[in-house]
Amino acid sequence: MKITVVGAGAVGATCADNIVRRELAEEVVLLDIKEGLAEGKSLDMFQTATLLDYDSRIVGSTNDYSKTAGSDVVVITSGIPRKPGMTREELIGINAGIVKTVTENLLAHSPDAIIVVISNPMDTMTYLALKASGLPKNRIIGMGGILDSARFKTYLSLAMNVPPSDLQATVIGGHGDTTMIPLTRLATYSGTPVAQYLDAEALKKVAADTMVGGATLTNLIGTSAWYAPGAAGALLVESIVRNQKRVFPCCVYLEGEYGQSDICLGVPVVIGRNGWEKIVDFELNADEQAAFNKSADAVRNMNSVLGT
Ligand code: NAI
Repeated sequence: MKITVVGAGAVGATCADNIVRRELAEEVVLLDIKEGLAEGKSLDMFQTATLLDYDSRIVGSTNDYSKTAGSDVVVITSGIPRKPGMTREELIGINAGIVKTVTENLLAHSPDAIIVVISNPMDTMTYLALKASGLPKNRIIGMGGILDSARFKTYLSLAMNVPPSDLQATVIGGHGDTTMIPLTRLATYSGTPVAQYLDAEALKKVAADTMVGGATLTNLIGTSAWYAPGAAGALLVESIVRNQKRVFPCCVYLEGEYGQSDICLGVPVVIGRNGWEKIVDFELNADEQAAFNKSADAVRNMNSVLGT
């Protein structure tokens, strides 16, 4: 198994680190456009192999895609964050250019790869990667909902004072402060609805905290987060390469499922060796479906900037 991670910044390097620590592939390639960055971080990581007792080999590359040849899974984290004074459309334009070029370069050397998109705005970048690549829809997966669900479980855990590992909770819809939908009705603690432990007000606060989970961290750290995003990316990669068939909320192309078409949006899917293999129907109630439709409208609006 061979895995490539493009972008050796905070998220890409953390994702690659989790991938090698879990020995998800014999070979991992970390690639970045910035001279020396991926080589340096890869060497640093490989020097932990004997300390942490793993055998995966990680190598770095400055934009040499020949090193990525034959990858089974590729993860795209390259892009730039929004800078002061920059409009969302300008950011989309720059990151769209990066994601499109990176996707084409990757596929030229790894035509059979499954593509995981992490770069923001993730729902739009996933849609772009699908349209630019012309690949079957099952091979393009956007990662956002796994992270947002982890944040949802964390806030539930804090509010309920129970271990996060006993919680099941899912965020669907877009990967944005106003577009994500924490499904409080379906969240459970050891199989029982969390509504048995938290009143409506407390649940509302958990959902609200989840939705601004990324912004809260950006305010605290001064830049966006990387530990949980990197770990979430690696968890998704693990379900692919180990064919685990785990159900995760991922951004995938919809053709009528959840009432939406020609859009990539977060829904629960089975993840295995062929990418996303099946969309799972959570049977939304009317309010949840209305929120999902609203989320789709916002993401579709953003996609229109691409002009695809
Ligand atoms: P970063 O700035 O630390 O790293 C980005 C890296 O991409 C840089 O090292 C840069 O040199 C590289 N890069 C830029 N253009 C490139 C190109 N054409 N080819 C190869 N490498 C290129 O940013 P960070 O924090 O790692 O975030 C990466 C992306 O992930 C951002 O778009 C961010 O918004 C997004 N993100 C998405 C999350 C999700 O859940 N989907 C969560 C957290 C971040």
